[in-house]
Amino acid sequence: MADSESQGAGSLEDYFYPYRNRYETYRSIPYQGVAREEIISVISEMARSEDKIGDEGKCSGSIYSGDHEHYRFLSRVFEQFAHANVLQRDMYPSATKLEGEIVSMTLGLMGGSSKNGEACGVLTSGGSESLMSALFAYREWARDEKGITEPEVIIPNSAHVAIDKGGHYFGVKVLRAPLGPDFLVDLDWVKSHITANTIALFGSAGSYPYGLVDPIAELGQMALRHEIGLHVDGCLGGFLLPFGRMLGRDIPAFDFTVDGVTSISADTHKYGYALKGTSVLMYASRDLRRRQYFTYPDWPGGLYLSPGMAGSRSGGLIAATWAAMVSLGAEGYTRIADAIFSTADKLIAGIRSQDGLRLYGEPTFLAAFGSDEFDIFLANDYLAAQGWRMNGLQLPPGLHFCVTRPNTYPGVVESFLDDLFHAVDYAREPGHGAASSGALYGLAGTAEGNQAVDGLLSGALDAYYEPSPGGDA
Ligand SMILES: Cc1ncc(COP(=O)(O)O)c(C=O)c1O
Repeated sequence: MADSESQGAGSLEDYFYPYRNRYETYRSIPYQGVAREEIISVISEMARSEDKIGDEGKCSGSIYSGDHEHYRFLSRVFEQFAHANVLQRDMYPSATKLEGEIVSMTLGLMGGSSKNGEACGVLTSGGSESLMSALFAYREWARDEKGITEPEVIIPNSAHVAIDKGGHYFGVKVLRAPLGPDFLVDLDWVKSHITANTIALFGSAGSYPYGLVDPIAELGQMALRHEIGLHVDGCLGGFLLPFGRMLGRDIPAFDFTVDGVTSISADTHKYGYALKGTSVLMYASRDLRRRQYFTYPDWPGGLYLSPGMAGSRSGGLIAATWAAMVSLGAEGYTRIADAIFSTADKLIAGIRSQDGLRLYGEPTFLAAFGSDEFDIFLANDYLAAQGWRMNGLQLPPGLHFCVTRPNTYPGVVESFLDDLFHAVDYAREPGHGAASSGALYGLAGTAEGNQAVDGLLSGALDAYYEPSPGGDA
């Protein structure tokens, strides 16, 4: 990259390296260790300024709890086992208690008892690992039981891209089924594309772009008919929607009580309000779970057994996840869910009443919307200038606001709707040129937006792992 001084404000260097002129850049390990107080001071400064947008409730998704008391409590639990490697169960048998209970509590939410003691699960590092592990398990199962060597899965076009990533890693062909006008998977398309090579179907509860629950009961019937798997991706909604159902919200069943569902993922690090780095992957049978295990008895390093992709894992995350669930309790989850759904009600009503905006599907906790009349990303430019961090969608273009606990603070949704009203006016004005925001997953509100996407995608990943290229403090 060019010298930072030559890149004006809003440059990619500012975007990736905002601290390059503020803090020391370490390109190699400093010979003399830096004082702990100095490190704490730098880290705290960065954390405080970066948390601001989430703490004010101006961010869609991403920050699910936002309660710093809760985080402090989880951090206290985390530090007890942060250094512990749970691979060593003889040293750390607590991991078996805590992990087993996390799985059991999550199965309780997902109708696990309907499987006569067969429902089971594992803990993973997040939604992507859960989805990829399930895909891998189905591949192994289908090869061993059905002799399928060119496996395929069918997923709704709204399903999370981690399934494609898994397909890429594990050599499974992923067919993306189009969505109907309701933004749910087109069942006829799925039905007509199941072949002898299909190993599983996927559905979401709710989908990342739209927050909607796919027709799981119908997918389950197809899966049963063809004797294939059905994974329900509840990574996003798994710890929210069941409480919505308990509150009487109109949300269809998507768990193990639905015939044909053979696995479910639910992320503890999203609406489970745990620290980042955990998700629960559940299977309807122990046999299916075994397909993801790896054992290697002939290694000089010893008899090797591993439940999933990770080797060493920190006991701290497991303990903190357990602590989040036990401390909040069903009452806490229900209370927060109630606030989230009520806030989403106001948000949805406000968007509906705004001329020129169109909601995508029938949302409950996440409102996705676009416009047939103006460039929705121009509206997002305006919102971003007011400090809002929405998620950009494409195909069709849109924005989504995934409501989380910080968005439920008094006045937040009202202030958003007010800004949205002005954002629409702004987007309708002629002469703005191309919008500067776009639909780059995980980099919402990037200064460069769609125009730079092609060059950015891999370059951005490279940049994640490089210190700032010069002009440092
Ligand atoms: C529906 C859904 N599935 C899977 C994932 C991937 O989860 P993670 O980012 O934890 O890997 C997400 C992330 O937002 C999601 O919304």
